[in-house]
Amino acid sequence: MIRRWQQLFLSGWGTRVAAGSALLLGLTLAISNPRAFPVYGDQTVLPAGTELNEDALDRPREIFNSVSRGGGKSYLINLGDLAFSSPSILGGAARRAGISCNSCHVNGASNPQLYVPGLSTRHGNFDTTSVLFNPKADDGVLNPFRTPSLRGASLLAPYGHDGRIASLREFVRHVIVDEFAGPEPSPAILDALVVYIDDIGFLPNPSLGPGGRLVAARSSDAERRGEALFAKPFPHNPELSCSGCHTPSAAFVDHRQHDVGSGGLFKTPTLLNADFNAPYFHDGRFDSYDQVVAHFNAVFDIGLSVEDQRDLVAYLTAVGDGERPYERDGVITNVKEASDFASVLDIAIASRDKEVIALAVETVSGELRETVESFPERKDASVSGGGQERSLARLALKELVLTLRRIDLAAGADRFDDAAAEYKNFRYLMVSAVPTLLANAEPWSLFNPKVHDAHYAALKQTLQTAKRASP
Ligand code: HEC
Ligand code: HEC
Repeated sequence: MIRRWQQLFLSGWGTRVAAGSALLLGLTLAISNPRAFPVYGDQTVLPAGTELNEDALDRPREIFNSVSRGGGKSYLINLGDLAFSSPSILGGAARRAGISCNSCHVNGASNPQLYVPGLSTRHGNFDTTSVLFNPKADDGVLNPFRTPSLRGASLLAPYGHDGRIASLREFVRHVIVDEFAGPEPSPAILDALVVYIDDIGFLPNPSLGPGGRLVAARSSDAERRGEALFAKPFPHNPELSCSGCHTPSAAFVDHRQHDVGSGGLFKTPTLLNADFNAPYFHDGRFDSYDQVVAHFNAVFDIGLSVEDQRDLVAYLTAVGDGERPYERDGVITNVKEASDFASVLDIAIASRDKEVIALAVETVSGELRETVESFPERKDASVSGGGQERSLARLALKELVLTLRRIDLAAGADRFDDAAAEYKNFRYLMVSAVPTLLANAEPWSLFNPKVHDAHYAALKQTLQTAKRASP
């Protein structure tokens, strides 16, 4: 597909097209990108029935430590965020299927809906050593792990469910090269990924004060009774207590591995923002805190009464909370993300960094093409009204993609001044025509829950009919 319109562009277009007329020229181009369901990219790569939940309207809210501290996101953080959303840093099946780090760690959180038939035993877990993603890493056993949230990751070493790797940098390299068969990442991209992941913060939780203690004025009696139980030594193992491993003053971890009767040595997971991290335990075996507490009660014979267990669950729920955990996906968030990602081009073009230019162009183009599909074509029967608005929104986005392609071509030919000029065009479109055109069409887009649900209901119907028709 990309090749086709690249040719169109090469055959007739100048490198510099004024923003306005470019939109009109775009009218003559037919770029089609059939909406894959439920995954983007090449669907045939992943087993039928794979769920990545990419069409979810509510996305986990992402907090950047640098921004919370009153600063701005640096070039490296934006570059890391970009790489994190880029299938092209991975290899093999993941890349072809359009999967990136962000597909599983959505906005740096987890993905409880993730399900890959054959590799998952339940929603939210996944076998990282399988023939599908890296034949060389296949260990021949189905051993899926829960996809962890990366919130607060800088405080949660060592890494992996079993804490097998001390350094985040080494773990990330291992994920790219060993688990997803990607090419050896350049030191610059690896640094950026680590800086980005280190910057993913916990959602604020006003119920917790200094030292991870409950704020009295904001907590219930049950929660405070739970807090006391949490600190109390276990009757038969007085050297142990919940808080002995989940240290409240240290993000509720102790950086160590323990056998808590779940089949081996696993690292103590954080309890901060954990309300949003189910399913629980390394393999995602538990759906709720009730089940987790019942497990500890049984394994360590703690002798908790039904009421004690309820209090502990109330306490865990208070500790695991976070402010505004989800964010509604929409035109504004999409434009902001594309702008943040593309912002690396500023420095990359100035410093003639072809690697980063190519990564930015490819990744942002991919995101924009997905956004195009949020504005159903005129002929789409599941949406009525706003045909004109939808067409214009699609064209505006496609024009951005073409502009990015021109940046890449110019940089590829060492014409960095042309690349800089095209990037200026891109920035201009991003702050002028694009937000308005997209906002005008938003009511008839998949960002509108009603349109969204009708669209996916129709799509499911079509898929089911197609399934029944095929032998
Ligand atoms: C298909 C889903 C999937 C993709 C894609 C994915 N991960 Fe993960 N990630 C997981 C799972 C499952 C685990 C737990 C595996 C383990 O512990 O060995 C994990 C664990 C991690 C951890 C350890 C967290 C901790 O607290 O121990 C980090 C860091 C991480 N991933 C980063 C990344 C990065 C960076 C990428 C992209 C280069 C990526 N992941 C791509 C599913 C995924
Ligand atoms: C000996 C150290 C230790 C003690 C004591 C301990 N935990 Fe844990 N906790 C762990 C480990 C290790 C895991 C992960 C187990 C796994 O992944 O299979 C865990 C998992 C959890 C989880 C699931 C979090 C998630 O995201 O998966 C919760 C909730 C939890 N513990 C609460 C408690 C409570 C409540 C107590 C006291 C009744 C307690 N823990 C006592 C080490 C401990």
